[in-house]
Amino acid sequence: DLTASFHDHTFQTPLMNASGVYCYTTEELDNLLASKAGTLVTKSATINYRAGNPEPRYRNLALGSINSMGLPNEGLAYYLDYVLKKQADPTVPTLFLSVAGISMAEDLDMLSTIDQSDFNGLTELNLSCPNVPGKPQVAYDFEATEKMLAAAFERFHKPLGVKLPPYFDLTQFDIVAQILNQYPLAYINTINSIGNGLYIDVDSETVAIKPKGGFGGLGGAYVLPTALANVHAFRQRLNPEIAIIGTGGIENGADVFAHLLAGADLVQVGTQLMKDGPDVFTRLAAELADIMNAKGYHKLADFKGKLKTL
Ligand code: DHB
Repeated sequence: DLTASFHDHTFQTPLMNASGVYCYTTEELDNLLASKAGTLVTKSATINYRAGNPEPRYRNLALGSINSMGLPNEGLAYYLDYVLKKQADPTVPTLFLSVAGISMAEDLDMLSTIDQSDFNGLTELNLSCPNVPGKPQVAYDFEATEKMLAAAFERFHKPLGVKLPPYFDLTQFDIVAQILNQYPLAYINTINSIGNGLYIDVDSETVAIKPKGGFGGLGGAYVLPTALANVHAFRQRLNPEIAIIGTGGIENGADVFAHLLAGADLVQVGTQLMKDGPDVFTRLAAELADIMNAKGYHKLADFKGKLKTL
């Protein structure tokens, strides 16, 4: 039984896409709904359509991926229309709608639009896009993060989560958790890509992607231990009412199991979904079930958050 409880909701599996991967168009979103994913999140939206950065802007690598997409998306109305249509269908699970404004004003404008709509799913405020030239990742600026959350909760009354970048120092986890614990967040999603890596192909002596001279967000196997550290460090520090989505480096069922053991309630798959398409969820669900059977676990709660130390 892979049923996952999350906030006020249950999903058939704890698996979903990571935002930005396979979620730009209604066709891709419909394919996710037809897969073994328990739910989905839409591509982070700005108010208006954006073309994003010049191509090539995503590359699969042997150990993961690098991207600098630059927030290409169809605009908030497109994704809000999609989730509103789907929520009328009782066979469709609760969906996640992601927003990533280029400014705090744009974030607040989108949150107001969603608040005033009939959307009854979960909204994810992305504070961690590393790929818009000249725009810092909000969540690395603790003062800006606190201001953003204070302003968001003044006008937003529906379940809200935040997408965070990876942190690396234990004092950062202390500071960020202390800020997050002051707000009635439904959840956090950790991690976004490790920002501004640089992949170099030695044969051609070149970078792998065009935007920003080759600097881009890392995903895949490169990021798994960082992702697990962020999930676990936040689970140790956040109010128990704040759920956690674990994202980063999931290639197989054991990686899903590790995220859940570290304290994730749901997990998201980015790079491996790019590589395999939505059938990846069939394999991951089967591999997770096999591991649980071998260990004698019948449900996720049997091991979720129960990581052992030495
Ligand atoms: C993009 C990348 C991200 O990691 C993110 O959180 C939002 C947008 C992008 O480049 O499109």
